[in-house]
Amino acid sequence: MTLLPKDTPGDTDWFVHDRFGLFIHWGIYAAAARHEWVKKYEEITDEEYQRYFDHFDPDLYDPRAWARLAKQAGMKYFVVTTKHHDGFCLWDTQLTDYKAPNTAAGRDLIKPMVQAFRAEGLKVGFYHSLIDWHHPEFPIDSVHPQCNDEEFLKANQDRDMSKYAEYLHGQVRELLTNYGKIDVLFPDFSYSGRPGTELLAPGKGKDDWQAEKLIEMVRELQPGIVINDRTEIPQDYVTPEQMQPHGWVTRDGEPVIWEACHTFSGSWGYHRDEYTWKSPEMLIQMLIDSVSKGGNLLLNVGPNGRGEFEPRAVARLEAVGEWMRLHSRAIYGCTQSEFDAPPDCRYTQNGKRLYLHLFAWPYRNVYLPGLGGKIAYAQLLNDASEIKMIDTSKVGSGGGKWLSSLGADTVILDLPVQKPNVIVPVVELFLK
Ligand code: GLC
Repeated sequence: MTLLPKDTPGDTDWFVHDRFGLFIHWGIYAAAARHEWVKKYEEITDEEYQRYFDHFDPDLYDPRAWARLAKQAGMKYFVVTTKHHDGFCLWDTQLTDYKAPNTAAGRDLIKPMVQAFRAEGLKVGFYHSLIDWHHPEFPIDSVHPQCNDEEFLKANQDRDMSKYAEYLHGQVRELLTNYGKIDVLFPDFSYSGRPGTELLAPGKGKDDWQAEKLIEMVRELQPGIVINDRTEIPQDYVTPEQMQPHGWVTRDGEPVIWEACHTFSGSWGYHRDEYTWKSPEMLIQMLIDSVSKGGNLLLNVGPNGRGEFEPRAVARLEAVGEWMRLHSRAIYGCTQSEFDAPPDCRYTQNGKRLYLHLFAWPYRNVYLPGLGGKIAYAQLLNDASEIKMIDTSKVGSGGGKWLSSLGADTVILDLPVQKPNVIVPVVELFLK
């Protein structure tokens, strides 16, 4: 049975159709090149962290090249970190000096990015950090870089969260007013579900940054926008992070719209010395797996300090793009199938077209229980070559002694011995 999540306030039609987006984590932490949480992990003070601000000089930044790569990879939307937890702003905000125009970049880095991605036909999304390790009024919580500094902690009593909330709301207003239509808002950082973070948390998170009021403003400024639930108020979709759920994601037993977000290598921001990179095969399988469970995939790149996607990222985007060139109709507009896929496979489905994604190439035959009498035609998607079938609902036990244990509801596909030369082969099944 195909699941259908309930309607939500935002316009999610395009979102559940398009399925695949690019996440971009970029900021002055790219200069440190060892995780976007480097300030926290190394307990770096504002004074020391200033060196990344002073040396951030993305002289090779070419957002049109980024947008082209994303489009070629088959991505239909992008979500960029306007501000991450370190508080650095990529756009020309009027509310702080801690922004790209005041670095060697000398300009608003968001504006040309939005223009470039829109020009390639991608929808636009903004990630925005709810917490802030630079703003003087943001209280020191248990994830703050200086939370172990007794002296620093004393200053907490003078910090006024309501002033920070005003700043936060003001910045979100700028972002949703000055850059045209914004399709996605990805506020980030929920305290709940992170054991220990509540301890020093200034309050209950969502009350502190006045999430309800924030969302009200966002909906007023950008009526169709799609918003995640990380303010801790359920909105349009949920965002499992760096994991693949075991099935369609639910909340209170109800299916919801969801999007898995993943890194290439573990860190979201550029990390020079990280070697735990996922293979193109794994990335493609994650995309398929998400759609087979009714979800999206937001795949992250962390551009480096010169403003480029590094070769390891480019190679993976290109490999995914080559697969998508041949197989995107098994992704766009598809969702979880009404049928259960056989071992080592996933199904995605779009109406009468059922896509069998083969994660392991079997020897000649793959058995599709429950499909007897239901398939009109089958072909490999990469080259539209026919795949012959035996339908046990037609041949019954007369099909020979080998088939007798299968029952009368199975389709047996007769695959070539050689795996087609694509990373994940797909058989397109036309349902009657
Ligand atoms: C987390 C992390 C963060 C990353 C994000 C992406 O909340 O704090 O560094 O931006 O998830 O989903």
